[in-house]
Amino acid sequence: VIAAFHVKLLAGRQVLITAGPTFEPIDPVRGITNLSSGKMGYAIARAAREAGAEVTLVSGPTALATPYGVHRINVQTAQQMHDVVMSHASGQDVFVAVAAVADWRVANASAQKIKKNADGGVPQLAFEQNPDILAAVAAMPGRPYCVGFAAESEELLRHGEEKRRKKGIPLLVGNIGHQTFGRDENELVLFDDAGHAQLPRADKQVLARQLVAEIARRI
Ligand code: CTP
Ligand code: CA
Repeated sequence: VIAAFHVKLLAGRQVLITAGPTFEPIDPVRGITNLSSGKMGYAIARAAREAGAEVTLVSGPTALATPYGVHRINVQTAQQMHDVVMSHASGQDVFVAVAAVADWRVANASAQKIKKNADGGVPQLAFEQNPDILAAVAAMPGRPYCVGFAAESEELLRHGEEKRRKKGIPLLVGNIGHQTFGRDENELVLFDDAGHAQLPRADKQVLARQLVAEIARRI
């Protein structure tokens, strides 16, 4: 007889997660986005739900199915993601910011489709900075336990710990961004007050369960 059981590490906990890319419009038919697939964030949402949590997933545009039992709210822009997160953040036990949020939006987005110019002139886009969702949640009184992600392209160990301090959060999960976007596997480094620890290369769902266990023992 094989006895399979789940230890409900997050039973009764409320967990809020952002995932996927954001989409910042240029005009009604065009926009700026990034290579995030949402796979890591959705895997964490599924793992948190399996661990007994009540999970709210605020998602940018992805091609993924909603994990069973997870409450999903779809957004497009960083500003929309910020607004939905802030209206759901109070009373949450854990916030995991996995989304690849656009740092900038197009300040002069056009209400109508931009037409090609006969003289070959090109549109001039101007940018303004988006709100930092993780920093906003981390600054709330009675804030949830905040977990950040960092997709770096180099010097992960240095940038990871620097980013954790700058954001003022207890746990930051680092990965090498362009090596993981869209893939089924990842390799994570956890940064906390005690230093850093590796979660070796594995399927994202396996890593998500390990990360949920790491979060559960810290709250
Ligand atoms: N994040 C966020 N809102 C933003 C930008 C980032 O919530 N407007 C979150 C991400 O979801 C991630 C963490 O902050 O959990 C780190 O994102 P990252 O892009 O690595 O950090 P930045 O502070 O934006 O720094 P930079 O892009 O310059 O490296
Ligand atoms: Ca960024």
